[in-house]
Amino acid sequence: MPNATRDTLAQLSSHYAGKRCLVTGGLGFIGSNLTLALVEAGARVTVVDSLEPRHGGDRRNIEDAPVDVVIGDIGEPDAVRDPLAGAEYVFNLAGQVSHLDSMTDPLHDLEINARSQLAFLEELRRISPKARLVYSSTRQVYGRPQVLPVDETHPLDPVDVNGVSKLAADRLHRLYHRVHGVPATVLRLSNVYGPRQRLDGDHQGFLPAFLRRAIEGEPITVFGDGSQQRDCIYVDDALRALLAAAWSPSAPGEVFNIGHHEHLSLLEIAEIVVAAAGSGEVLSAPWPEERQRIAIDSYWTDYGKAARVLGWEPTISLAEGLAETLANHRSRLAWQA
Ligand SMILES: NC(=O)c1ccc[n+]([C@@H]2O[C@H](COP(=O)([O-])OP(=O)(O)OC[C@H]3O[C@@H](n4cnc5c(N)ncnc54)[C@H](O)[C@@H]3O)[C@@H](O)[C@H]2O)c1
Repeated sequence: MPNATRDTLAQLSSHYAGKRCLVTGGLGFIGSNLTLALVEAGARVTVVDSLEPRHGGDRRNIEDAPVDVVIGDIGEPDAVRDPLAGAEYVFNLAGQVSHLDSMTDPLHDLEINARSQLAFLEELRRISPKARLVYSSTRQVYGRPQVLPVDETHPLDPVDVNGVSKLAADRLHRLYHRVHGVPATVLRLSNVYGPRQRLDGDHQGFLPAFLRRAIEGEPITVFGDGSQQRDCIYVDDALRALLAAAWSPSAPGEVFNIGHHEHLSLLEIAEIVVAAAGSGEVLSAPWPEERQRIAIDSYWTDYGKAARVLGWEPTISLAEGLAETLANHRSRLAWQA
């Protein structure tokens, strides 16, 4: 990782020294990386995570960091009452990410991504209404891009249940700002990858699946002609966006797209992963029907608003991020075995 990135992340995290931070979903991929960065900066961190089956949560993700961990659903007032009391910063990363799972178990997705979020917002406005709140929404709320790159004014028309549930929570966070004055900010993240991301199964997104297959020397399957493009952000860049959004005085009430200017076809990404891993191969196959029905074609992000308002832009290329990620994943697969 470029030293400049490490320095900026450390600089941003340093604002949180001594601050009381709540990270929901803090045992999952992005949440655990954020938790460790905050702890390193000297913040007092509490994590609430329900360790949902099939999600990325794992206690080992936060190693033996000095963090208060509450195992519970953020939709349950009993689980969040104490963690919310006195919290100055709330990073709301609890959620279910699988588009495929949202179509096979839609009510569960709605429960986690919408109902629990609304219940959490109700508790938050009652207990800690002045806490700075950042919610991790997703590019999926836009659906199939009508123009590229996609900025925040693009129509919202999700193609799967996950996108609809996440959009409900995205809108609810902004509504609680407008109506109740909660200082909430929404980040619509593109594909995030990096250390501590769950690799097993193909339901967590294409990059973890590509990485696992390459590491294990298995073929990576790209559907159709593989020409659909994506932008991918290394997790440290996502952390910088979360930390900047919670800190910036201009961020409450705003929504920001967070992605990368480097956009590549899935075929190119698969080939880069195989080259970086030194193993695996790329095969193509016809689209499975259940995937084609919710495919969004090409997507990449216009993050100009985040650059203007938060001073944020991605700093890590796919090649750099993959090198860090692969080294971490190889050791992780060893302890998961
Ligand atoms: N990873 C990505 O590429 C990506 C892209 C866009 C948005 N996001 C969003 O970022 C957030 C974090 O994603 P991630 O990749 O770290 O996923 P993850 O599955 O690794 O982590 C999510 C964590 O949230 C926990 N959780 C889920 N529902 C909960 C609930 N109701 N109460 C308490 N804990 C709960 C899970 O147990 C898990 O530990 C999610 O909201 C996701 O929608 C992720």
